[in-house]
Amino acid sequence: MGPEKPDRNLAIEIVRVTEAAAMAAARWQGRGDKEAGDQAAVDAMRTVLDTVEVAGTVVIGEGEKDEAPMLYNGEEVGTGANPRVDIAVDPIDGTRLLAEGRPGSLAVMAAAPAGTMFDPGPCVYMEKLVVGAEAADAIDLDRPLGENLDAIAAAMDRDVGDVTVVMLDRDRHAEAKRQVREAGARLQLITDGDVEAAIVAAWDQRPQVDVLYGIGGTPEGVITACALKALDGRMLGRLWPRNDEEAARAREAGYDLDAVLTESDLVDADDCFISCTGITQGNLLRGVSFDRRGATTESLVMRSKSGTVRLIRARHRLEKLRQYAAVAY
Ligand code: FBP
Repeated sequence: MGPEKPDRNLAIEIVRVTEAAAMAAARWQGRGDKEAGDQAAVDAMRTVLDTVEVAGTVVIGEGEKDEAPMLYNGEEVGTGANPRVDIAVDPIDGTRLLAEGRPGSLAVMAAAPAGTMFDPGPCVYMEKLVVGAEAADAIDLDRPLGENLDAIAAAMDRDVGDVTVVMLDRDRHAEAKRQVREAGARLQLITDGDVEAAIVAAWDQRPQVDVLYGIGGTPEGVITACALKALDGRMLGRLWPRNDEEAARAREAGYDLDAVLTESDLVDADDCFISCTGITQGNLLRGVSFDRRGATTESLVMRSKSGTVRLIRARHRLEKLRQYAAVAY
C-alpha cells in the first residue's frame, strides 16, 4: 500500500473540453470547409477549458499569437488556480479528414506539470516509431525498420506477417513502405491523423494495428507521448527538418537533430493527462452521432501516474446545454 490517497485526475475534467470540441466540430463533417470546422472546435475548446481549475499555459497550440486568435502558444488558460500545468491541444487532429467526411478525426487535449512538455521550436516534423507495452523494449530507431519489425514480432510472439504497420500516405515514406513490404509485415496507409493511429498501435484494446512508423507533426508527437506514458507503450522519435535552412535554425536554437527522443523526453513527467474524443468514426473511437434529443460522444481518457484508461460514452442533451452553455452545439 502506498502512502498517498487517490488524488485529482485532471483527465476526468478535460474530457468535457474534448467532448465540446468534438460536438462543435462534428457539425462540419464532410462540408469541405477545414477552417470552419477548426474554428468551431477551437471556440468550443477554449470556452470549456476556461472552466477547468488550473493555471494552464498552452505550449502546444494553434501556432503563434499573430496567426492564432485563440489557443496560441503561450496563452494562459483555465481559471488561474493551482496547479500550474502545460497544456497541449489539437482541437482537430485530422482537419482534412473531417472536412472530407473521412474516418479518424479526433479532438485531443493533454496536460502535464508546468515546464515538462517538449518545445518543438522550429521543428515542424519528427520521425516516429510507436508500439504498445508488449514490444516497448524491442525497438531501436538506429536500426533499419525491417529489423525493428522482426524484433517487434518476436516480442509479441508472432510471425512478422501478423504484424500491421500504420503509416501516413506520403511520398516521403516511399523507402519506409518498401522496407515494411520487404520485411513481410502488413501495411495500413492513412491520409491523415497520426495521433489516432499511434494510440491504436499502442493500445491493446484495438488490435487493428501494432506499429506506427513515419514522419508526422512534432506537436502531434508531444500529444502522442502523453498517451504512450499512460499506456506504457514506447515512442521513439527524431526531429526531421524539412530543409537545410530549418535544420540550421534548429541547431542554432540548441536542438540536437541526431538525438533519439523517447516519450519521456517529450513529456518529462510521471503525472500527465490526456483526453481524446472521436469526431468522425474511427479505428479508435466512435464518431459523434446526433439524434432528435442530442448527441453521443465517445472519449478515451487516460492518466499516466495511475495508468487508468477510461472509455467514456456520453449522452449530451443539446437542448438543455443550449439554454445555458456559451458553446455553439
Ligand atoms: P491537422 O489536422 O492538424 O492538419 O494534422 C493532420 C496530420 O495528418 C497529423 O495527424 C500529422 O501529424 C500531420 O498532419 C502530418 O503532416 P503533413 O500532412 O504535412 O504530412
